[in-house]
Amino acid sequence: MASKIARSVKDLENIDIVPSVPIDGVIRPGDDRLYFDPVLRRKYYNYYFSYGRYFRPTKVYEMGVRTGYTAYYILSGAAGSVKKYRGIDLESYLHGSSAHAMALLSKVCSDVRVHTGNSHALKSLDDCYDLIHVDGDHTYGGKLQDLRLALDSLAPDGVIVVDDCSPIGLKAPIYKAVKTFVAEHDLKMRWFHPLCGSAQNAIDGHALLMRPPKPK
Ligand SMILES: C[S@@+](CC[C@H](N)C(=O)[O-])C[C@H]1O[C@@H](n2cnc3c(N)ncnc32)[C@H](O)[C@@H]1O
Repeated sequence: MASKIARSVKDLENIDIVPSVPIDGVIRPGDDRLYFDPVLRRKYYNYYFSYGRYFRPTKVYEMGVRTGYTAYYILSGAAGSVKKYRGIDLESYLHGSSAHAMALLSKVCSDVRVHTGNSHALKSLDDCYDLIHVDGDHTYGGKLQDLRLALDSLAPDGVIVVDDCSPIGLKAPIYKAVKTFVAEHDLKMRWFHPLCGSAQNAIDGHALLMRPPKPK
């Protein structure tokens, strides 16, 4: 049975982003360019922590786990609400990353599994999830395929988070895939814009997608 996320689509506009999160003891310096940049690091993991804190999901799925850092902050922000975490990763960036992620995530959730494999080989997810982070294949076609997989297994009031959603540079195919997908499925989107000058400019951009509310 689908779990219930603590927020609805109208709340997408009201997400409070915490200014920073501690990263020492979580992020290994060699894994992440953000580690050494005190400005940029305030524009990334703190967003994931804030999504967890805001939505309080019960079941979380992630395509593209790598070392488990983004998931760690979602689960930490959710402060115990996440009862099940599943993820998939090809390990094309870092050999052995799934085992590292499992060990890290087991500190913040008692039911954690990371499958080493290709998300495109999945016909469906094993369950219905209320927060799905889509951060695996970064090509236009691959992103669309992962987004379809995610939406098919998303709880009715669940949220999909997409990293690297920027209209310029190397991330542009992801932005294009997200825009196409949003239009195809009539979804609501909140975009933390990488180009705007405000405090709410997640590095490289995040898109948060939800289904529109059902008419009463
Ligand atoms: C940007 S990294 C993910 C970062 C991660 N969320 C974190 O917290 O560090 C992208 C990951 O997606 C994985 N990946 C790429 N294509 C994939 C696919 N088709 N199926 C599963 N994983 C994939 C790569 O192996 C890589 O680890």
